[in-house]
Amino acid sequence: MNTTSLTHSNVEDAYTRWAPVYDWAFALVMRPGRRASAAVINRLGGKVLDVGVGTGLELPMFGDNVRITGVDLCEPMLDIARKRVADLGLKNVDELRVMDAMNLDYADASFDVVVAPYVLTVVPDPERMLNEMARVVKPGGEMILVNHIGADSGPIALIEAWLGRRSAALGWDPQFPWSILGDWIARRPDVELLERRTLAPIGLFTMARLRLR
Ligand SMILES: C[S@@+](CC[C@H](N)C(=O)[O-])C[C@H]1O[C@@H](n2cnc3c(N)ncnc32)[C@H](O)[C@@H]1O
Repeated sequence: MNTTSLTHSNVEDAYTRWAPVYDWAFALVMRPGRRASAAVINRLGGKVLDVGVGTGLELPMFGDNVRITGVDLCEPMLDIARKRVADLGLKNVDELRVMDAMNLDYADASFDVVVAPYVLTVVPDPERMLNEMARVVKPGGEMILVNHIGADSGPIALIEAWLGRRSAALGWDPQFPWSILGDWIARRPDVELLERRTLAPIGLFTMARLRLR
């Protein structure tokens, strides 16, 4: 189901444009979500897939008890992630590959944790991405999602509606409702919602932790 005007090619174009300035624009504002998800993952440990790893801003937050594979649709974003891994000498990153989150090239039950910070709102078909994430997580493992969830009403909802008409150029959907995730969970008896946490400082982003039974 294509819920927005986002397509692969306009998302890839958008992030190719964002890549050179991405860290400058988004390192700080989205850091709480990366920190919160990395803290959970460092407690769990194991083999982790970071879907839509982007420029790899989250990679230095992972501990030595974690082995990370990162995938992203956009090569220029991954090039920056590769440079970060080399510059910082990160030894726990196994590979960084171009890959579509909606069509993951990994066998079923390959990872202990699959994390996707700020990605579900940028793919044309979020449900397909969720199905793929669930497929590659081991039973008992976790899926961790961090996203901006759109407001239901009020001035923020109006601003998001205005921005939503520009989602193809922006590369994300600012109107993303919780129901996309909530309805998907409700349809999956093998998935339970462990935690839904609004993140400090201003509650702009939400972290959801799901467990595969
Ligand atoms: C908002 S950025 C988030 C990057 C990173 N997770 C972070 O915390 O900074 C969204 C990322 O998702 C990637 N992306 C978009 N569509 C994708 C898809 N279908 N498959 C894989 N990655 C995708 C973009 O290229 C971009 O790097």
